[in-house]
Amino acid sequence: MLERTIVIVKPDGVKRGLIGEVIRRIENKDLKITRLRMIYPSTECIEQLYDIHKGKSFYEDLVRFMSSGPIVAMVVEGDEAIKVVRNLIGPTDGREAPPGTIRGDYALSIRENIVHAADSVERAEYEIKVVFSENCGSF
Ligand code: CMP
Repeated sequence: MLERTIVIVKPDGVKRGLIGEVIRRIENKDLKITRLRMIYPSTECIEQLYDIHKGKSFYEDLVRFMSSGPIVAMVVEGDEAIKVVRNLIGPTDGREAPPGTIRGDYALSIRENIVHAADSVERAEYEIKVVFSENCGSF
């Protein structure tokens, strides 16, 4: 079934010059990028994006990290895009992610793990609304 999801290249991915690598892997898979935006997100926007993690031990550090520099957000469409993108990205912890996945190939951390992707159709719609809103950040 045709789905759309959101993929975000996190500040570590942007700093390490991996925007192109993430896009290349998405496009190689024949998924379509239908929107693309680079922003320096506000703390408030990141708090909205990660509302489900509020109260967890890693939440404060996560918000600080995600608002520490520019991010690149994209809307990605294709057959079963939610699952397909999550398979391309790999598990959260870069140390555990298998080679061949984005995190497996480029991340050695559970927090600074290069990319984010939505985990359900509902979350994708919510996160697209949050990150593509005018007041998510500047640039
Ligand atoms: P992401 O897929 O964007 O979803 C939530 C993010 O929180 C996750 O990637 C990591 O960046 C971060 N995260 C999740 N679990 C932990 C953890 N145990 N310690 C530190 N950061 C975490």
